[in-house]
Amino acid sequence: MKTLLIKKLFLTRIKLKNMSKINRTISVAPMMDCTDRHDRYFLRLISKNVLLYTEMISTGAALNGDREKVLGFNNFEKPLALQVGGSNKKDLAEVAKIAEDMGYDEININLGCPSKKVQKNQFGACLIKEPELVAECIDSMVNACKIPVTAKTRIGYDDVEEFDYLNSFVNKMSNAGCKTIILHARKAILKGLSPKENLNIPKLNYPMVNQIKKENPNLEIIINGGITQCPEIKEHLLHVDGVMIGRKIYQSPYFLVDIEREIFNNSDVLTRAQIVEEVVKYVSNEIQKGTRVNQIMRHTVGLYHGQKGSTKWKRYLSNNMMARDSDFQKVNHILDIVQNNEKEKMAVS
Ligand SMILES: Cc1cc2nc3c(=O)[nH]c(=O)nc-3n(C[C@H](O)[C@H](O)[C@H](O)COP(=O)(O)O)c2cc1C
Repeated sequence: MKTLLIKKLFLTRIKLKNMSKINRTISVAPMMDCTDRHDRYFLRLISKNVLLYTEMISTGAALNGDREKVLGFNNFEKPLALQVGGSNKKDLAEVAKIAEDMGYDEININLGCPSKKVQKNQFGACLIKEPELVAECIDSMVNACKIPVTAKTRIGYDDVEEFDYLNSFVNKMSNAGCKTIILHARKAILKGLSPKENLNIPKLNYPMVNQIKKENPNLEIIINGGITQCPEIKEHLLHVDGVMIGRKIYQSPYFLVDIEREIFNNSDVLTRAQIVEEVVKYVSNEIQKGTRVNQIMRHTVGLYHGQKGSTKWKRYLSNNMMARDSDFQKVNHILDIVQNNEKEKMAVS
């Protein structure tokens, strides 16, 4: 009896420790093929205050792959969360411990990806149908590490988009020790829609996310889906604890500067030209380690989005830096393009 009580107290302490101090006011969504380590380095040059996420990494890849290649990151990217996909509690616990040992600030479980491949492997959005299993997985992750265990999920699946179902799911996760939940405010259609369609077709339902926060004031609720402007962000922050943004930032990364200025009240930010200078330094370091120029530069395509000079920038990248064997010398010339862009902008203003 006494041992049981001590164990329970110990577990509660771990769970309390897992309540995080990370600033999640704004985070950049995990995006496969986008938010790899090079993209995250680039984004961190633009914003000091947002929380960054890796792409989803399956437990199989994390445990059996080349660890440095799959999970390695540069400390400059921090604060950084690892997103994992899986439903085997032992494997998830192991990955959570590895994430902690490697210096990640958070481990997040993907409960929102609707792709067929992910469903076949029994993880992602199909787990919304299995709250008990999810709770067991979270419990085992929480007990394996001291960093916060968080979850990213959708508000429903197929024909199920009900507050009571979602609220009970959220409560099961919370009781298992997950105190931060990211809600993509649309349901997942598990059959009949592609992953891309699943990002647009199911209707956004922000009120349901807000209601979850109202019912669970002690949980940290982060809203995600279709948010693209600072006034919208400010409005959401009146109802929930944080906003996660994906596509808008990938397509227009310099939007992060608006976020720094308007949301974090920070005007100590780099110009686009300064960012490119830093990227060039980064590329020159990375190619010594065998990284290809295009693996980094592909993430910078949107840097001039909406600006004069954007077409020239994209053309230069696509003509010189998108091939597997792109030459580093071409990266140096990029600074000329940037300087010309700046001059043209000054001439206009
Ligand atoms: C190219 C792409 C890849 C994505 N990969 C992931 C992923 O690995 N894990 C995840 O939880 N969500 C993933 N998502 C979903 C996003 O994290 C986010 O929930 C979704 O894009 C909605 O936010 P947004 O409207 O701000 O883009 C991906 C989305 C896109 C566009």
